[in-house]
Amino acid sequence: MSEGLLAARPAHVPEARVVDFDFFDPPGVARDFQDAWRTLQAPGVPDVVWTPRNGGHWIATRGDLVEEVFADYTTFSNRVVTIPKERGEHYRMLPTTLDPPEHRPVRNLLNRNLSPAAVNRQADMIRAICVELIEEVKPNGTCDLLADFAAHFPIRVFMRMVDLPDADAPMMKYWTDQIVHPDGSLSVEETMRKFHEYLEPVVRARRGQPGDDVLSDIVNAQIKGHELSMEEMLNLLMQFMMGGLDTVFNFLAFTFLFLARNPGHQQQLLDDPALIPGAVNELLRRYPLVSMAREVRADAEWQGVQLKQGDMIICASPLVGTDPRLNPDPLTVDFRRKGARHATFGKGNHICPGAHLAQVEMRITLTEWLSRIPHFDVAEGAKITMRGGIVGSIETLPLVWPAGC
Ligand code: HEM
Repeated sequence: MSEGLLAARPAHVPEARVVDFDFFDPPGVARDFQDAWRTLQAPGVPDVVWTPRNGGHWIATRGDLVEEVFADYTTFSNRVVTIPKERGEHYRMLPTTLDPPEHRPVRNLLNRNLSPAAVNRQADMIRAICVELIEEVKPNGTCDLLADFAAHFPIRVFMRMVDLPDADAPMMKYWTDQIVHPDGSLSVEETMRKFHEYLEPVVRARRGQPGDDVLSDIVNAQIKGHELSMEEMLNLLMQFMMGGLDTVFNFLAFTFLFLARNPGHQQQLLDDPALIPGAVNELLRRYPLVSMAREVRADAEWQGVQLKQGDMIICASPLVGTDPRLNPDPLTVDFRRKGARHATFGKGNHICPGAHLAQVEMRITLTEWLSRIPHFDVAEGAKITMRGGIVGSIETLPLVWPAGC
């Protein structure tokens, strides 16, 4: 590490805890996102480290501690959930930036719309969208899994759940990308303003009107006898949309990359489709992708280090499922694995409310894809490049399969 970076170390951070780790560009990320995180579990790396990158922050490097940071809201607050902190301060999505007790009533609005029963009622709709997209690419014998399938599937499911026109889906996807992977064409503030301008008239039109879509339910809900303000409503709807788009989009990419590179595992699912739910859970364990942050509430001693009020700490789900302290033989993908431990959907109060929806979307995709395109490979010569950040990603994933399969 350069002397310049070392100089940023605050007095309460011991030198032995300092590493050079850039959350957005971890070492070797282009080749393998999850491996890049696992460099923090190499022998000799302490369980809690500090990096001067991105404003300077702590990182819990072992799976059990990552789970603790996700869940222990008495020590670690959700007031700011991304780094660098200066940027995270502007991120006001709900319910993510609320701590208990304010978090629960807002969260309940999402839970009742994303419960297993509520999602299962949407399964036919999800399947129909999925089949239509697969049938579009199948005759070509090739596609970019991301641009041709993943970019359309979860956003169209979302648009149907909130009863908004499919034609607006590409615009919503573009705005989501500007928050999660900005290309510089819109600032965070401009993106939020565009999203608000689009949704505000819809919210006004649905207030006071009965409707069985998720948006109508949320806009007509009351919390302790009060409606949410327009600002709160829009911040909740943005989180609801963004939580389910980039995550499923990229998890589809990690799943299809693994299957394309491992024909034996493809064959297992073809021979026994009953393995698909277990396979989805095993791939969630092996290919976690979301890393959040928390803000230290008050000075505290924790795991042998002194934390100061306002310090930031990363809780990285990629450090949980493949930690050999938590799962035996963790790099092996075993669709029959029992008792796998992971935090791919987080832990504690903020654990992902969309976990069931995500799993249903993944199970339906694998079932419908494999029954139509039973064998597929990564296109010859394709360069697979990964990126870091809040959600680990793959840039493009060109796949090929035999014509007329
Ligand atoms: C593979 C797919 C997904 C992964 C890996 C994932 C991961 C996560 C994680 C790790 C968190 C915890 C954040 C924290 O503790 O700060 C979270 C929260 C959240 N997720 Fe997901 N998610 C996925 C899919 C979805 C879907 C499909 C939806 C909804 C449609 C969704 C909506 C949300 C929301 C609204 C939150 C915030 C919950 C709260 O703060 O109480 N997610 N997700």
